[in-house]
Amino acid sequence: MKLAAAVIFATALVASSAASSSTPFAPKSDPGVYPGGDINPPDGWKTLPTIDGARIDNTTLVVGSGSGTLVHYIDAEYDAGKIKRAVIQIHGENRDAWNQWIYSDLAAKRAATGGSFDRDEVVVMAPMFFNTGDEGAYPFDPNLDSGNAVTSTLDTATVTAGRRSFTHHTQGAPVASPVPAFERRSRVEHRGVHRIPLQKWSTTQAMIWKSIEWGDGSPAYEPADSAGAGSFEALDSAVSFFLDRTRFPNLRKVVIAGFSLGAQLTNRYATFRDDTSQDDRLIFWISSPNSFVYLQDTRPLQIGTSCTETYGNYKYGLNGTLPNYYTRATSRVSTSSLITRYLSRTIFYLVGMDDLSAGLSSCAPNTQGYGHLDKMYYWTQQVVPMLPGSTGVEGELPGDGLVRYVAKTGHQDWKIITSDPGVETLWLKGWYENGTDAETPQSGGTVAAGTPSKSTIGNIHSANTAASGTRATVMALVLAAVGATMALLL
Ligand SMILES: *[C@@H]1O[C@H](CO)[C@@H](O)[C@H](O)[C@H]1NC(C)=O
Ligand SMILES: *[C@@H]1O[C@H](CO)[C@@H](O)[C@H](O)[C@H]1NC(C)=O
Ligand SMILES: *[C@@H]1O[C@H](CO)[C@@H](O)[C@H](O)[C@H]1NC(C)=O
Repeated sequence: MKLAAAVIFATALVASSAASSSTPFAPKSDPGVYPGGDINPPDGWKTLPTIDGARIDNTTLVVGSGSGTLVHYIDAEYDAGKIKRAVIQIHGENRDAWNQWIYSDLAAKRAATGGSFDRDEVVVMAPMFFNTGDEGAYPFDPNLDSGNAVTSTLDTATVTAGRRSFTHHTQGAPVASPVPAFERRSRVEHRGVHRIPLQKWSTTQAMIWKSIEWGDGSPAYEPADSAGAGSFEALDSAVSFFLDRTRFPNLRKVVIAGFSLGAQLTNRYATFRDDTSQDDRLIFWISSPNSFVYLQDTRPLQIGTSCTETYGNYKYGLNGTLPNYYTRATSRVSTSSLITRYLSRTIFYLVGMDDLSAGLSSCAPNTQGYGHLDKMYYWTQQVVPMLPGSTGVEGELPGDGLVRYVAKTGHQDWKIITSDPGVETLWLKGWYENGTDAETPQSGGTVAAGTPSKSTIGNIHSANTAASGTRATVMALVLAAVGATMALLL
């Protein structure tokens, strides 16, 4: 009997794992497309790939009071009258908008197998926050002058500088990189002041940013007539497009969803978006950011000596230079109003349980945690619940807010978006007019994990503290190498 039971149990296990591996629209590896083969090409994207089921729109979303447009992928065809929900899926630092469309489309298709709705009742938009390295992906004129050097204090400025020089400076042949681009990128990321050669090369109205500035709401660098509009205004335009009842009469919810640097943008947008009149139709979806904009002075971790005066400067806090979007007279509100507004919004948070790395290890973000996992843990367990007017209970987010830890998942956008919790939070939650969720489809195999224990989180802390001696040495070497490279390139 016991043996028989064990056999049945084992068979059931095999059957269930077989079932989940064959679940439709649940990819087991990254279904993304990478023209040129690099996940984050150091010299930018040279093309916007064509994707089945989607089209590229570069005219519809005119942003702010200028004439810049937010280029985006969107369902090739849809019947606006049928649409109940829209997801705006925002890429990370590598700006692969087309892949965000692919992932969110897969998640939508799997959500639809739950039976509560059809795929043609929802729409996916994936905006492209170009940076200046992406010439070729945006139309450009190679003959325009390149003399326009500026300085920047961006965390990844060196990479951008190197990227531009590699491809476009005419002195000498392009330099072959001795290490894979992805590795090189993560090694040289640091904060500093660098000259970046930037050129007025675009020949279109597409909005283009310097380096990673789109992640904090900064104005676009091009086009010249974008009238100071930046990435927050660009999101306003995307959100308004969907909320317009004359265009989408049956649309109930818009989800503004961002991963990594896209999640940083989403967190800051949820903080600064001034219009609250449609908040019951908005969900902010924040997955695996390297930092949040903190709304108070305290931090979960110790404040390093190199940033005792600056750890609260924007984009990490509310000191320093705040985005124009916020400082323009009409939308400036007090810090306590910012907090109240943030707490009143519906915000879903997700992070991979294995995402122990940091997108950038430097003093200000390190006061928020050492990796994406502990940063998310502190924010959702301790920081947001303890803000004035919040729940006051550790781990309890206000309103409909929730956090999902995704098992066996690292810093992987495709895996988070197409996971069970990804499908749930992007597509099922609050599906019906009365707030009820749509039916859950068959599991895709990547499931939610429990909240990590304090010791799991504490271990991330001690591993990083113990390693900091070694890291300092490595960093000194990297900085020396970067210095040498910069001297060579600029
Ligand atoms: C939009 O795309 C078309 C077709 O690829 C191109 O000719 C045009 O220059 C683009 N315009 C903008 C604003 O990017
Ligand atoms: C922000 O600036 C104020 C005034 O200089 C200072 O008192 C406060 O400690 C700073 N906060 C942070 C988080 O840096
Ligand atoms: C909400 O609406 C759905 C669809 O009309 C319905 O199936 C469900 O029972 C409703 N739930 C509640 C709690 O009213």
